[in-house]
Amino acid sequence: MKLQGKTVLLTGASGGIGQAIAQRLAAEGARLILTGRDRALLKTLAQQLPGNAVFFAGDLTDPASQQQLHEFVRSQGGIDVLINNAGISQFGLLAEQQLSALMAVNLMVPMQLCQLFVPMLTARRGAVVNIGSAFGSIGFPGFTGYCATKFGLRGFTEALQRETADSDLQVLYLAPRATRTSINSPAVDALNQAMQQGVDSPELVAQLLVQQLQQGRKRRFIGWPERLLVRLNGLCPAILDFGLKHKLKQIKHFALNK
Ligand SMILES: NC(=O)c1ccc[n+]([C@@H]2O[C@H](COP(=O)([O-])OP(=O)(O)OC[C@H]3O[C@@H](n4cnc5c(N)ncnc54)[C@H](OP(=O)(O)O)[C@@H]3O)[C@@H](O)[C@H]2O)c1
Repeated sequence: MKLQGKTVLLTGASGGIGQAIAQRLAAEGARLILTGRDRALLKTLAQQLPGNAVFFAGDLTDPASQQQLHEFVRSQGGIDVLINNAGISQFGLLAEQQLSALMAVNLMVPMQLCQLFVPMLTARRGAVVNIGSAFGSIGFPGFTGYCATKFGLRGFTEALQRETADSDLQVLYLAPRATRTSINSPAVDALNQAMQQGVDSPELVAQLLVQQLQQGRKRRFIGWPERLLVRLNGLCPAILDFGLKHKLKQIKHFALNK
């Protein structure tokens, strides 16, 4: 897909990866509709971007807010691309996970926005990009709730890809690995450092997303060895069971001493 002149609805635009995506898409000549809850940040971002960007501030877990967003998009002449990027994460053992919030933001919102916008996007031969995670393919201790939502989003995306395969709609899935943004708490940063986990910049994720959209590539997993581990976990999960059992003491140390 050529991005020049296309209108893109980007959720989570006020976040680390979202801001980088917004900058990249604007540089490609796309017009942005930015969403998030932080009105002041969205306003500043919209003013900084070239190409007449606009913003809609609201909590997307609120059905009324979703409807208002739909009306706002229509008032702006519609969209060609929806990027479901908004997300939250929690690191900690199962007992302390806020499962409803994780499910609402990471899974229900992208599915509901697809329901709202897929008819318009299909008619315009547009695209949906759902931002998953390496943890949408690898169950990782300390991230039970987050993993469940991202596994769900991957499954939803795959089913929607196949359901719309007889149309010109593109349904894409991008799975970043750890990326330097404030979604990761200091405990997660410390764990990543202790495990020598590679951490990407939001700008790299944005660059790869734009490339994926331009190429129409259905699935993309960022990072090495994460790409290998995702495949390995699909083929032979016992190998990762073993590896992660050996890391469990270290992971629990960071999860319990936040
Ligand atoms: N960073 C990583 O390590 C990493 C790795 C893999 C995948 N990802 C995925 O990448 C995506 C972007 O994450 P990020 O790292 O950029 O995180 P971030 O900096 O924390 O940004 C999260 C964004 O989601 C928005 N958001 C959260 N709850 C919302 C709600 N109820 N309604 C509307 N917007 C809401 C936030 O808006 P406000 O701040 O305005 O409320 C913010 O714009 C997420 O889907 C995440 O799961 C991130």
